[in-house]
Amino acid sequence: MMSASIDLKKIPPKILAKTERFEVSEFLGKGKSGYSFLILFGSGEFVLKVMHNEPNPYYNFSGNKVEYEVRSHNVLEEIGIKVPVLLESSIEENYLIKEYIPGLTGPEVISNGEVTDDIIKSLIFYSMNAKTKGFNLDYFPANFLITSRELYYIDYEINPYSEEWNLENWGIWYWANQQGFTEYLKTGDPKLINEDINKGIPVKRGFEDIVKNWLQYF
Ligand SMILES: Nc1ncnc2c1ncn2[C@@H]1O[C@H](COP(=O)(O)OP(=O)(O)O)[C@@H](O)[C@H]1O
Ligand SMILES: [Mg+2]
Repeated sequence: MMSASIDLKKIPPKILAKTERFEVSEFLGKGKSGYSFLILFGSGEFVLKVMHNEPNPYYNFSGNKVEYEVRSHNVLEEIGIKVPVLLESSIEENYLIKEYIPGLTGPEVISNGEVTDDIIKSLIFYSMNAKTKGFNLDYFPANFLITSRELYYIDYEINPYSEEWNLENWGIWYWANQQGFTEYLKTGDPKLINEDINKGIPVKRGFEDIVKNWLQYF
């Protein structure tokens, strides 16, 4: 059983054939690697992520995405970053299944004006752990889910550390842009949150004081 809003073409036939195992109930979102769906199995809720190979201006990737995310998941767990539990993966069928995290996405929290000091402190803590191991997370807010208790990094992605794409020079600036994310959630237009849409560089002007204040938690 599927709800009408789901584009079935995005789900590989082999997974569709297995839907007696689970019910695909909602399309959650699409990023640079895959389509994520909320699925119901028994009384539980899970996320099915089906990888795609669509080109992305900010990302060049040539390996196998499932393999890469499974490996990244293991590293993230090892270095103390809160990620959803990985339940199943299939390289042949190009998907993984993970724990569903109920809560608000980063963009929703930013738009609501609910970015608390605790969220920023968790981001900084995660970034310091990752940096120690030579990595950056993808600090773009859509990769985070905020529950009543914790900040989750829901995408299994790590990148080699660089100053340019670290938290303080790049990602944290998105978290300050309430107005931009309110509009971005409505239209999805990247110009609302980026000063350079070709490279994916966030708008910084006007947010210097907020960010400077947050960076004191480092
Ligand atoms: N485990 C999860 N729990 C809740 N929502 C999720 C989960 N995984 C993904 N999502 C939703 O799906 C969106 C895209 O997922 P993500 O893994 O970041 O894909 P991509 O790698 O393509 O960027 C997220 O922004 C989030 O809204
Ligand atoms: Mg993502």
